[in-house]
Order: sequence, then C-alpha cells, then structure tokens
Amino acid sequence: MPLDLFSDMPGEQIPPGNMRIVTGDSLAVLPTLAAESVQCCVTSPPYWGLRDYQHDAQIGAELTPERYVENLVAIFREVRRVLRKDGTLWLNVGDGYARNGGTGNCGPNAMVGNTKKLIQKRNCKVPDCWGLKDRDLMGLPWRVAFALQADGWILRSRITWIKKTAMPESVKNRPTSATEEIFLFAKSPSYFYDPDGVRESSDANLRNYWILGPDASGNGHPAAFPRELARRCILLGSRIGDTVLDPFSGSGTTGVVASEQGRQAVLIELNPKYAQLSLERTHHGKKSRVEAVNT
Ligand SMILES: C[S@@+](CC[C@H](N)C(=O)[O-])C[C@H]1O[C@@H](n2cnc3c(N)ncnc32)[C@H](O)[C@@H]1O
Repeated sequence: MPLDLFSDMPGEQIPPGNMRIVTGDSLAVLPTLAAESVQCCVTSPPYWGLRDYQHDAQIGAELTPERYVENLVAIFREVRRVLRKDGTLWLNVGDGYARNGGTGNCGPNAMVGNTKKLIQKRNCKVPDCWGLKDRDLMGLPWRVAFALQADGWILRSRITWIKKTAMPESVKNRPTSATEEIFLFAKSPSYFYDPDGVRESSDANLRNYWILGPDASGNGHPAAFPRELARRCILLGSRIGDTVLDPFSGSGTTGVVASEQGRQAVLIELNPKYAQLSLERTHHGKKSRVEAVNT
C-alpha cells in the first residue's frame, strides 16, 4: 500500500522547504510513494560504465548499455505513476563511447579522480549490441529518450546544456565534448509548464540551449549538476508549495534549489554518504529527515 509522501506527520502542515531524503534503491523506494503526489521530477542518473557508486543496485554498472536503458525505463515508469497527471520529468543523461582499449581510460570523463578501474575496464570492451564498433558514440541519451517514449512518456523538448567549462579530454581525432542533453517529458498531453518561470534576458520565451557553468564551489560529489540547471527546471515545471522529486539525489542539488524556491522535495539516494551530504546541504533549519529503506 503506497504511503503519503510525508506520511508519518499526519495532519501536520508541511511548510514549503521540507525535505524527505530516503536512502535506498529508487526501484524499491518509488513504489512506496503515493500515486500522483509529485509535480515534477528533476534528475540525472549516473552515466553508463563510468563511475562506481559502490552498491550492487547502482544504475550505470550494468554489463551492457541495453540493460542500463531497461533499468532506467523501469525506474521512470514508477516516476510516472508518482507524478500528478499534469506532471513533468526533466532528465539529464550523459553519453559515452564504445571502446576496445582496456587502458581504463574510456568514457567521456574517464580521467575524473574517483573513477574505478573495474567499471571502466568493462566499458572498454565494445558492448555486443546496437551494432556498436570500437570508438562509436553510443547515443545513450537518445536511446533512453526513445525507450521512454515507447514506454508511454511524451517527449516535449530536448534542451542542450552547453558547458561553459568542459571537462578536459586528451583527444586529437574529434572535438572535445562540451554538451549534454536535458529532456523534458510529460505524463499527459496537457501538463503544467510556466513559461514565465524563466525567460530569456530579452524577455522572449526561454530557448532550448542553456549555457551554464559549474557551481563555484564543489560539494563533495563527483557528478553534481549546476544549481542553475535545477533552478530552471523547477521554476518551469512547478509552483510554490509543489513537491519535486529526485530519484538520483547525489549531493541533493535538486533538493537545495527546491527548498530555496519554496517547494517541497523527496530525494532518493543509494549511497548513504551522499544521502547524508544531501541532508547537510538541504538542512539549514528546515524540517528534513533521512530514512533508510532496506533493499
Ligand atoms: C549523477 S549523480 C546525481 C548528482 C546530482 N544531480 C547532484 O547534483 O548532486 C547520480 C547518483 O545516483 C545514485 N544512484 C545510483 N543508482 C541508484 C539507485 N538505484 N537508486 C538511487 N540512487 C542511485 C548514485 O549514488 C549517485 O549519487
């Protein structure tokens, strides 16, 4: 039986800014949330085959990218159930290369300090799917987008995030990768979108390329997205007092911004260290709590 989002506070007024931070596997936690209780989901799952988040249930460590896509479809099917009828999903997904190297330096950001050799070596074998060849760009964001479309989501926009500061790459046979995709999906054809939430400086309707730099200070997570990215999605996709969900919370950026913008948030994170980081970043005198779900 699904629980209310803030179920152990019966009848209690939940002021904007409240957080619920759940430590566990999203695939197991999402079914415990009430249907149609969230206005928008702003999230960024791990890249496939790049980092090791040190848990058997982690997304991104699947043996094949096909399995990665299937796992994301299963998680976002639950997100769709939890979203209100007029709710939206803002999904940032990264790409990667099929490699046959074995050097441990594959993947677009493979030089990042905390990457684990094991996961990278696996990624250094060209996966036996989709006709991939050595050095093929896998096109994972679009493969995920098409799979979600086939599963019932309505794909409404592809936003290109242009990174002011691109991760250095030691490549000499192609341009350095400095963009990522953010997809806007809707649960139904008529959905909430506030065109005045964020506008161009000319006051025109916001365009689908966002030039964003990283946040000035790191926050202890290797793959946090900029606060401004979360701010735009939240302002366009929700109203004050609404609930925002991030099933891959990481350092809690979505929760931090939701709180600043007077929204409530439910954050799910597999790694207890990052769930704690999410709590510390979002706490600031608000009613936040971390709970563990055994998975
Ligand atoms: C790319 S990071 C998210 C970063 C976040 N947007 C931020 O700004 O900090 C993805 C996170 O998903 C978590 N994760 C991986 N598999 C998960 C799962 N099955 N359920 C919940 N969290 C998971 C990882 O531990 C990691 O912290």
